[in-house]
Amino acid sequence: MALSFLSFSILAVSLIFARLLRNWTKLSKAPGPILAGCTDLWRAYYQYNGRLREKILDLHSQFGPIVRYGVRSISISDPEVINVVYGSRTGFITADSYKVLVAIQNGKEVPSLVSTSDENRHGALRRSVANAFTPTAVLDYEKWIDATIEELIDVISKKETFDLSSMILWYTMDAAGRFSFGEPLGCLRVEGDADGSIQLVRDRFNHWGWWSSIPKLERLIYRNPLAVRQKLATSRMAGVALSKIKARSGQLKTEPGDIDLLQRFLEAGKAHPQLDAAGIVGMIMSTISGAGDTTATTVTAVLYNLIKNPESLEKLEDELVRADLPQVPGASQVNKLPYLDAVIKEGMRLFSITTWPMERLVPTGGVTIAGMSFPEGTSVGCLPLAVHHNVEIFGDDAHIFRPERWLISDREKRRRMEAAHMGFSRGRRSCLGQNIAMLQMKKVIPAILIKYKLSLANPEATLDADFSPGVAYLEPLYIKSHPKQ
Ligand code: HEM
Repeated sequence: MALSFLSFSILAVSLIFARLLRNWTKLSKAPGPILAGCTDLWRAYYQYNGRLREKILDLHSQFGPIVRYGVRSISISDPEVINVVYGSRTGFITADSYKVLVAIQNGKEVPSLVSTSDENRHGALRRSVANAFTPTAVLDYEKWIDATIEELIDVISKKETFDLSSMILWYTMDAAGRFSFGEPLGCLRVEGDADGSIQLVRDRFNHWGWWSSIPKLERLIYRNPLAVRQKLATSRMAGVALSKIKARSGQLKTEPGDIDLLQRFLEAGKAHPQLDAAGIVGMIMSTISGAGDTTATTVTAVLYNLIKNPESLEKLEDELVRADLPQVPGASQVNKLPYLDAVIKEGMRLFSITTWPMERLVPTGGVTIAGMSFPEGTSVGCLPLAVHHNVEIFGDDAHIFRPERWLISDREKRRRMEAAHMGFSRGRRSCLGQNIAMLQMKKVIPAILIKYKLSLANPEATLDADFSPGVAYLEPLYIKSHPKQ
């Protein structure tokens, strides 16, 4: 009996060992920790602890532009590959890490724009709403952004010290509610997470981050027929979006000032069958989820970098004074400010919201990237921060905040930097809301700096974040605001 138990144990250990070894040999030519090549539990552990991003950056500085961080996962920091992996016609589809983001509604899996792995469906859905996100179309939402900035300034005016991370997040969530369906979510009003909207969005990003490394296990636990059938309720935010659609149907607004995304989607739905009520709810959920923490983190990171770099702050303040802007500046005014543009690009370069590479699967036939060949089904991707630290593109001071690097006269060098900037990702799955995000950032940053002199409540404070979810969440950052004369 004792002998058979021992034999069984030896057999089980040998089988596990053989399996791990087989995993490792799949991509053994790519450098990286041996354990990472043997089991995805390695990357799952680091992601769950919010350290995968930092670990991948370390691996790149140790081993160069290609590193392995999972059984079939490769991170590439060479900007030359961006077009190959993310380009429009290259056949690289999103990896399984996106599948854990698929929502379950009414007992069914409902893939959204970002989580669908069906490229045809993605392309059709994206084309159907593309007109709502062009640089010209987003000017229609300026009124919603202005109203939210006014509310933000009003709340700040009552405080001397406050947590900038939360304040800006309340602003971006309220702005997202307004430009999505014409109503704020109420976060600035209650100075908190009104009706749990922020938590609702974060629950999804947490789930994405925590399970992205082990999607098969996630499917087994959360998507077995029993678990799926139990999820019958529509989420509260989906319920709000649905009620807005019902209220709007039949009374399409014509006033230019009243146009929001819902209005645009309803209009687009007449010509695109995939934009039925469920499709529109999905798009509204995607825009609110996609607009909150992402924009808030970026705005706060930009402001933090300005506070820590007084010379840059002074240059920006000079530019704003020279432009003679009103309290809430207009799009046509802020779009003419080169230093502001450089400051935002530089802030996004140094603090990117993505917490692991944006993974794509190598198509049939395999591919050779940066001199190494990878078989079909390998997950390859770029971690924006790793690309943004490339000294050949951004110079030896790539790790410091220096907006001037974007204002050089050497057009070719600037073009190469632009091409390597991945803050909004690249290609057919790049950020759909980037024109709205830029408009918001170009308005709210000046609006705050025109009115207030900002300083850190604790001069030693650093910009810390939780990097375990799908999108980085900033930790509280207390600042003092002194009204300017
Ligand atoms: C500074 C702010 C923002 C940043 C840094 C940002 C960044 C990104 C990134 C990196 C992606 C690609 C994610 C991936 O493939 O894994 C993405 C996708 C997306 N973003 Fe943004 N985003 C921002 C603001 C916004 C806003 C304001 C909206 C909506 C109004 C939005 C809506 C979306 C949507 C719908 C997608 C999915 C696009 C697709 O799959 O076709 N984002 N964003």
